[in-house]
Amino acid sequence: MMGKRSNYPRISKDFYPTPAKAVLPLLPFLRPGTRFIEPCGGDGALISHLEAHGHTCVGAVDIEPRHRSIVARDALTLTTTDVVGAECFITNLPWSRPVLHPLLAHLKGLLPLWTIIDSNWAHTIQAGPHMHYCSQVVSIGRVRWIPGTSSDGKDDASWYRFEAVPTETIFKGRAALSDLRSVEHNPTSVPGATASRHARHHQYSSPMTPKAKETKG
Ligand SMILES: C[S@@+](CC[C@H](N)C(=O)[O-])C[C@H]1O[C@@H](n2cnc3c(N)ncnc32)[C@H](O)[C@@H]1O
Repeated sequence: MMGKRSNYPRISKDFYPTPAKAVLPLLPFLRPGTRFIEPCGGDGALISHLEAHGHTCVGAVDIEPRHRSIVARDALTLTTTDVVGAECFITNLPWSRPVLHPLLAHLKGLLPLWTIIDSNWAHTIQAGPHMHYCSQVVSIGRVRWIPGTSSDGKDDASWYRFEAVPTETIFKGRAALSDLRSVEHNPTSVPGATASRHARHHQYSSPMTPKAKETKG
């Protein structure tokens, strides 16, 4: 990955915690109280933002975790047993294509997968096989991946949702700033947003034990 693209040196394992602002465009597309698994949890930043909006992390792993609540595990080893009780994955996968593509292929077969990827990725030849399974693209715009820097990343980013079976893709462009402000307080308020049609409901019985909200400090 060239960045999340910038002139800064690349960070090991593509560890770029997701800032809170990048989560806002996704909120209208999540069922209230969504029970999700974070398969590349990093330091738990994305988990905290989602839980602040009423969603529940029922499992979190990372190949090189940066928080004690996140289990050290390669997401490529997750199985159907590990995801019982969750409706979907929500994450920000590494953008490095040789890492991204196997993770996409594996995870979408276990649960619907929401992840952030650069917007241009959808237009590359490499994305073709994966885009058959992409049901939604929700535009985020530029993201400031490195806190404290004055410049945003060089790529626009989007939330992408992948399914286990081929599907048409619905594209949702940038939300107006006023909509983003209101979604912070009322996640279902953005015009045109729909709750997930694919939500599945189970009791949680995952062997992974995140509890990120309780222990993140
Ligand atoms: C872009 S960071 C995102 C961190 C976190 N999801 C967030 O948004 O705040 C990508 C994370 O993926 C992790 N990672 C890379 N390959 C992985 C794999 N095969 N299995 C699990 N985690 C992986 C890295 O260690 C890193 O923490």
